[in-house]
Order: sequence, then structure tokens, then C-alpha cells
Amino acid sequence: MVSRWSSPEAWCLLLSLLLLASWERGSGQLRYSVPEEAKHGTFVGRIAQDLGLELEELVPRLFRVASKDCGDLLEVNLQNGILFVNSRIDREELCGRSTECSIHLEVIVDRPLQVFHVEVEVKDINDNPPMFSVREQKLSVPESRLLDSRFPLEGASDADVGENAMLTYKLSPNEFFILDIIHKKDKDKFPGLVLRKLLDREENPQLKLLLTATDGGKPEFTGSVSLLILVLDANDNAPIFDRPVYEVKMYENQVNQTLVIKLNASDADEGINKEMMYSFSSLVPPLVRRKFQINESTGEIKVNDAIDFEDINTYEIHVDATDKGNPPMVGHCTVLVELLDENDNSPKVVVTSLSLPVKEDALVGTVIALISVSDQDSGANGQITCSLTPHVPFKLVSTYKNYYSLVLDSVLDRESVSSFELVVTAQDGGSPSLWATASVSVEVADVNDNAPTFSQPEYTVFIKENNPPGCHIFTVSAWDADAQENALVSYSLVERRVGERALSSYVSVHAESGKVYALQPLDHEELELLQFQVSARDAGMPPLGSNVTLQVFVLDENDNAPELLAPRAGSTGGAVTELVSRSVGTGHVVAKVRAVDADSGYNAWLSYELQLTAGSARSPFRVGLYTGEISTTRALDENDSPRQRLLVLVKDHGEPALTATATVLVSLVESNQALKVSSRALVNTMGPEVALVDVNVYLIIAICAVSSLLVLTLLLYTALRCSAPQTEGACGPGKPGLVCSSAVGSWSNSQQRRQRVCSGEGPPKTDLMAFSPSVPP
Ligand SMILES: *[C@@H]1O[C@H](CO)[C@@H](O)[C@H](O)[C@H]1NC(C)=O
Ligand SMILES: *[C@@H]1O[C@H](CO)[C@@H](O)[C@H](O)[C@H]1NC(C)=O
Ligand SMILES: *[C@@H]1O[C@H](CO)[C@@H](O)[C@H](O)[C@H]1NC(C)=O
Ligand SMILES: *[C@@H]1O[C@H](CO)[C@@H](O)[C@H](O)[C@H]1NC(C)=O
Repeated sequence: MVSRWSSPEAWCLLLSLLLLASWERGSGQLRYSVPEEAKHGTFVGRIAQDLGLELEELVPRLFRVASKDCGDLLEVNLQNGILFVNSRIDREELCGRSTECSIHLEVIVDRPLQVFHVEVEVKDINDNPPMFSVREQKLSVPESRLLDSRFPLEGASDADVGENAMLTYKLSPNEFFILDIIHKKDKDKFPGLVLRKLLDREENPQLKLLLTATDGGKPEFTGSVSLLILVLDANDNAPIFDRPVYEVKMYENQVNQTLVIKLNASDADEGINKEMMYSFSSLVPPLVRRKFQINESTGEIKVNDAIDFEDINTYEIHVDATDKGNPPMVGHCTVLVELLDENDNSPKVVVTSLSLPVKEDALVGTVIALISVSDQDSGANGQITCSLTPHVPFKLVSTYKNYYSLVLDSVLDRESVSSFELVVTAQDGGSPSLWATASVSVEVADVNDNAPTFSQPEYTVFIKENNPPGCHIFTVSAWDADAQENALVSYSLVERRVGERALSSYVSVHAESGKVYALQPLDHEELELLQFQVSARDAGMPPLGSNVTLQVFVLDENDNAPELLAPRAGSTGGAVTELVSRSVGTGHVVAKVRAVDADSGYNAWLSYELQLTAGSARSPFRVGLYTGEISTTRALDENDSPRQRLLVLVKDHGEPALTATATVLVSLVESNQALKVSSRALVNTMGPEVALVDVNVYLIIAICAVSSLLVLTLLLYTALRCSAPQTEGACGPGKPGLVCSSAVGSWSNSQQRRQRVCSGEGPPKTDLMAFSPSVPP
């Protein structure tokens, strides 16, 4: 149009047409039209000409144009009578949205006054684009809306009219919505959206679309609005755990409230639909609920009770995460808790005794007890090693896995060790390892494998002769290392003959006590040594026995007085008559007293002395103390009585000493007479004299021998006493005493010593038994 308006020929044509038309209507009214927004000076019409006025008369007739409400939008050039646009005409301002819009002009001329009405129609041009009231439209759409749901939009408006205001809408391409135009009765249109594809907030929480409106003008104008579609959440997502199964390994015996795992589920929804609560699923048995607790809000699973590997070693916990949407949705997962073993159980040892007590002759390899060990832990913590007290004659033999036999490993001897306290230790392989012990008392039963034994193979006993019958002379004692009846010793005599008689007529042994009794008085002169054996037997099956030798020395007592020997035939009444020549010199042996003693030793050792009678002070004789020889002490003279009677006291050395008195009659004769007699006497006396001397020599040798034997014996006994146990013995007439002398230097010494010791200083302390002949009061 604009292009057409711009050409003058077109304008002329249009104007003439318009004029013709207006005139033709005959209303006497002039009509022009002008497009809005025309420039200043734009030709509207030859108003003067068209009104039939001459150009010259315009001024004189005071030609003027008046408009009620439009001011000076249009002006007339009085020179050429042309109506033109004076200032910008906006149709929309002038008439709004009404389709008809015109400016009414009153043209007045004076002389004569004439009034003309001129209508100037203002034509619309497309000068207004479609307009939306807001720059952005927000639309909230729940994601759960169904397909074909409609959402009205606010349309655009166009200030223009007609074609210029005819709007068409267009939506930016998208997959979810299409545009739907609703036509109203007044030809107006409303745009709306229709859902063509389901929304997912989790994928597209919002959409940005552009709605464009285009008018029908030429050229066309467009206007647009952006549509912000907010997708509202619906609880369409269940909480989801990262993994369907969580595996947790933890040691048993965790302290209360130890964290097992912190679960974390996520929910794609938002808001309350995303908030969730954790809980054990209904599948979880009460036992597991007791052992573990779950924090609803944090998803932390904690230990709530003692958890023991030996009780249950894996737990399967089904956990639900429930969101707070409506309806709620639930996610699931499973927590597998695998407990790891700790060495918290000590091994157990059970001993089953089989054969106790064990006989000491049991064979090596004999099974004594069965031992079973166990440990509730697993792996190394349950691996048990078993050990036994070291250095015992037993060993453990593994029979099967955790079963052992306690077996005899070497021979036993009850007499050395009668019982064993065995300790079986079971230790597991944990670290630190735990252990347990069990003790087994093994008693060793006795077997009769030991014979009774005496401390010495031989005992020497000294007993004084003339003991009272039935006197206790010694006690034998044998010891048996075995036990009970195997150690019950009984004694008996080993019978033999002593000369004509049986041994049992001399001595007897008490079977239980071992006391040896002399059954009858013993006579040293008859039997000096009684040697016999005592047998000791235990009561085992079979019994064992051993023998001991007793040597009983019968000690001499002074029970025999010296006995005078008849010097020659013819002597009577024990009186001997000797003829002695008066001429013999000093030291001449005139006679010899001979005596013997049946006893021995001291008791048989004789001494001689002259018993003094009245007037014997002058006696020229003396007696050899040990020889019994009567000899002169000086030369005889006339004063000596021709007949002299000498009493010689023969005394042994016993205690008390026994004596005999020999009477020797000495007749002093003249020398020749005496010679004969004495020679005869000498001849006669020669034999017996020599014999007597011999007897005395032998006696002394015997005494010496016996003494040295005694000394030796004493020494030997003292030595033995120091090593051998004491054996007792007491017997004898009167008050028996015991001699414990060790060193007897000489006879006299011995004598004194014996006296002293036997007078009883303290208890008897020696094996050697002797009898003190006389105890001083
Ligand atoms: C839970 O998981 C989500 C996503 O995996 C993460 O963003 C969040 O930080 C986690 N929360 C915790 C407490 O671990
Ligand atoms: C769960 O954990 C929270 C945060 O630690 C705590 O405040 C709440 O007391 C716990 N709930 C239970 C039942 O233990
Ligand atoms: C462990 O702790 C919880 C909370 O303090 C308590 O309820 C439960 O009785 C405890 N369990 C044991 C075995 O002490
Ligand atoms: C003991 O002596 C008797 C008789 O001489 C003999 O039969 C026996 O075998 C002896 N016992 C022992 C153990 O020597």
C-alpha cells in the first residue's frame, strides 16, 4: 500500500474515485481518507476545490477548519486549498480498537457564512506487533498428568485492527506439547498446550518453550513469550540402594552400638517423596532384630546385643527404605553380615579314665586314659595342640583328630614313684592363644616285686650266759618296699640242728615282731657261738623272702670258781705237804699251786696270793702272783718254824671274783734229807709243773687273743653302728647294761671303762650287747 501511496498517479486516481463516491452519495459531505502515521505534509485532499471555492476567495472569506477533538492533526494550505497532515495521527490513539476511525472537520467560510462537514477517515496500517502481557509465562505441570491434558495459555493482543490484528500462534518445537488454538465466538483465539508425551520430572524438571504470535498485517509483526513449564514431582520413584546386597565382615564380640554399616538409599523424587525411613523388612526374624538395630533416619545399622560367632556366624538382614510420598514407595536391600571368629573360647579337655590305678608292672603302651579336647572357635583359633607334663613315664598318642590316648611310655616302679599328677594342656592356635588343663591322678598299684630286706646280711649278738629262759635277745627287722600285704613281713627261724638238738629248742622268732628269744639259759662253756638264719617273708602272691644270719655270741660270766689241781697222788683234803731243805737260797721255788678255771678270759685269769695268817709276817715265802709258784724270800734260818702252813688264795679276775684256797704245808728239813725229798718232789712235780706253766701261757695267749678279738669286734661294731640302723637287744640277769666302748686300751682300762659306761649314762646306744658283771650301787 505504502508503495502505491507513494506514486502521485495512484493518489490522483484514488482521490478522484473517493470524491466521486462522496459526491455521488449526495450527502453534501466531503470524505477523505488518510493512512495513520502519515508524514507531516502528506496530501489529504483539494478541500477548497472540492467544496467549490475559488482559491482567491479563501483568504477574504476567512476560510478556516475546525475539529472538535482532534486539534491540529490536519491543516489546510490557504494558498492552494489542500488539506494535509499536520502532525502524527495514531489511529489506535484516536479510536482505540474500533474498526471505524475518522476525524470530523468543520470548514467555515464567511461572506456568506457557509459550514461544510468533512470526514477524514484514518486508515489503519500494521504498526503494532502482537503483544504478550508478560515476558514469561510459568506453568506448573505435575509429572503425573495424563496425555492430552490441556493447559490454557494467555494469548497475545494486537493494537491494530482487522488483518493487522489477526494473530496466528506458533510453538517452539518440543516433544512434549503441541499447540491447541481455541476459537472464541468473537473470532478471538486462545492458545493452549496439549500434552503429547508423558513428563518425567526426574528427567526434565522444567521445559522452556517459546510461543510466537504473528499478525496478519503486511508486513507482519510477531511477538513471543517464553513458556517455563515446571514439572511437578510425583512419588513415582522408589528409594534405591547403591547395591542390592551389601557384604559386611566384622569380628564377633563387638561392643554394643558398634556401627555395622551406614546404608544410603537415594530417591529420584524430591521433597517429601524423597525423604525416606529405613527399617528392617518384615522378613527379618526377631532374633536378628534383637541383635541389630537400624536408625530410621540415618540408615545406620548398629550392634545391639552380643554377637557370637559360635552362635550364628552370618546374618542376612533385609532392609526397606520407605519414602514419605503418598502412596509411599519402598526400596529393598540385603545386608549380609559375616562374622569373623575371634579366639574367645578356651579349649575344653575331657579325661575319661580307663584303667586306674595302673599296676607297676603294666606293659609299655598300656592305655591309661582317653582324652578328648574341643574348642568352639574355628580355624586356627580352634586348632588344638595337646601336651603333657614333661618328664613322666607317659605320653599322649593322638588317635583321631582331637582324641588322644594317655599311654604308658616307660616302665613304672611304685617304690620310686607311687603316683603321678599329670597335667594335660590343650592350647589353641589363636593369638593370643587360650589354653585349658586337666589333671589326671595316676596311682601306681603295687605288685609284689620287692623281697623284704634286712639292713645287714648278718647280725652279731652278744648275750651273757645264764640268761633267763625266754629272754629277748635281739629283734630282726626286714623292710619291704612294697605296699600292703606285699610289704607285710613275717619272720621265721630257718631250722637246723645244733649238735644233738634242734635250733628251735634254743631260740625262737616272733613271726610279727621279729623278736628273737632265747628259750633256755645258754652256757658259754658249752656253746660259745650260736649261728642261725631268720627268714623274712612277705604276704604277697607269690611271696618273696630273704634270710639274715644271726651270730649269737654267748659271753662268759664268772660262774666257775678256780679249781685246784691235785698236785700229785697222795695229797688229801687239798692240803699239800712240801719238804724244803733249810739250806735253800733266796728265790728258791719250793712249791707251785695249780688251778684252772672253766670260765674264760678274765674269769679264767687266775692270780695267787698268800693269805696272811698269824705270824706270817715273818714268813719267808711268797707266791708268784700269776705263776702260783711259792718261793723263798730270804735264806731260811733256825727261827723259822719247821712246819709252816701256807694258805694260797687263788682268785680269778671275774666280778665278783671267785676264789679257791689251797693249803700248802711246808716242812723244813735238813739239807740232805731235804735233797732226797726235794729231788723226789722235783722229779714228781716236774711233769705237772711244766704242764701248768704251759696252761698258764696258753691262757694268757687266749686272753690276749680274746681281748684283741673283743677290741676288733668293738671297733668293727662302732664302725658298723655308724652306718647301720640300730637293732635293739636287752637281756641278762640283774640289770643289763650295754657297752658302747670303742677303744679298749688295756685290760684295766677296759675294766674301768666298762664300769663307767655300764653304770648307765643315758640310754643304750650300741648294737654291741654285753653284760656288766657287777654294778656298783
Ligand atoms: C548418599 O548417596 C548420595 C548419592 O549416592 C550422596 O549424594 C550422599 O552424599 C550420600 N549420603 C551419605 C550420608 O553418604
Ligand atoms: C538416629 O540418628 C540420629 C542422628 O544421629 C539421632 O539423632 C537419633 O536419635 C537416632 N535415632 C535412634 C532411634 O537411635
Ligand atoms: C545395647 O544398647 C542399647 C542402647 O543403648 C540398649 O537398648 C541395649 O539393651 C543394649 N544391649 C545390651 C546387650 O546391653
Ligand atoms: C633261706 O634259707 C633257707 C634254708 O637254708 C633256704 O631254703 C631259702 O631258699 C633261703 N631263702 C633265701 C631268700 O635265700
